[in-house]
Amino acid sequence: MKIFLDSANLLFIKKYNDMGIIDGITTNPTLLSRERDNPAMLMREIVSIVKGPVSLEVTATQTEEMVEQAHRLRKYGQNVIVKIPMIPDGLKAVRQLTHEGIPTNVTLVFSANQALLAAKAGASYVSPFIGRLDDIGQDGLEVIRQIVQIFRNYEFGTKVLVASVRHPLHVIESGRIGADVVTLPPEILAKLIFHPLTDNGLASFLKDWEQLKKETPNVEI
Ligand code: E4P
Repeated sequence: MKIFLDSANLLFIKKYNDMGIIDGITTNPTLLSRERDNPAMLMREIVSIVKGPVSLEVTATQTEEMVEQAHRLRKYGQNVIVKIPMIPDGLKAVRQLTHEGIPTNVTLVFSANQALLAAKAGASYVSPFIGRLDDIGQDGLEVIRQIVQIFRNYEFGTKVLVASVRHPLHVIESGRIGADVVTLPPEILAKLIFHPLTDNGLASFLKDWEQLKKETPNVEI
């Protein structure tokens, strides 16, 4: 399973990119609005830092304008995936962009049927928002199960990108179901790295090493 970082923050992007644990980035207008930088410059910078796919979202809602924005976003780099909202005009834009060879990520997907239609239009990725489904009392992971099964049954090439991830269990379950990608906010990725037994274990190893050095002069590794 691939891991994308769901962020437009350069510090987090550099930090996790340097660790080699992220395969790509997803952004959206809300994430860009949280940063102080000019969004166009910021998107260009992100695309230049990260080698893998970077999803950049259109803000238009009509097909023609979406396609124009997609062309502009693709000029930022060959790794740009154009994020298109799951609306009728969006599906039309996806179809057109697919014919042009431009990869797309259909966003704001909340049902298996929406994912199916996005795949039929030619989307490279679909982004079901599982946390927002959980928030309204629906089972986000069940929607992932349904989408993965349907895509497998009919051999769709569209990748399932689990979005709106809220806790580490969402990640484990997405992997067990067989989703292609999870996109994680920095705070969730940090939780995946951390385990109290790791920190306790390291503290005790270092303490014992210090003791050993006191008892055995000139010890080095
Ligand atoms: C995905 O591409 C979206 O940017 C994101 O996962 C939405 O998550 P949220 O529900 O936490 O805003």
